[in-house]
Amino acid sequence: MRRLYVYATGVFWLLVTAGAIVGHWAPGTPGHAPATERLITLAELTRHARPDDCWMAIRGAVHDVGAYLPEHPSQPSVVVPWCGRNATEAYETKGRGRPHSPQADELLTRYRIGRLAGEQP
Ligand code: HEM
Repeated sequence: MRRLYVYATGVFWLLVTAGAIVGHWAPGTPGHAPATERLITLAELTRHARPDDCWMAIRGAVHDVGAYLPEHPSQPSVVVPWCGRNATEAYETKGRGRPHSPQADELLTRYRIGRLAGEQP
């Protein structure tokens, strides 16, 4: 009986340890930025400054939002000047002191293509 108890305890801790290791290394776990994410320089960002080829750096991440711009609910003149630039402040304020909604934040993640070199994510 005692042997069974020792055996069961051993198996239990083995599973706990394995779970912790897998949990730590699993890709996509919150808090673990994908190791393969592309690093984009400011020079490269600057080359995508057209409405039909529009990259924006927001909160340290670069987003290719060209395909989304025709859907954006404001006048193009509000967003287009931010193509090819660090647009964090413009995004945070919509140009007039009001933040975008959580839905907009969620939408933004779909266009993420990399990280701006030298910026914290
Ligand atoms: C960085 C430059 C940007 C500026 C200056 C800007 C500004 C604005 C303005 C003026 C509005 C309409 C008025 C309002 O709802 O208050 C708006 C709405 C919205 N924008 Fe932007 N925008 C920018 C980038 C983006 C990006 C990159 C996305 C997503 C990929 C986005 C998603 C939305 C959405 C979903 C709305 C509807 C309202 C909301 O959910 O907050 N915007 N934005």
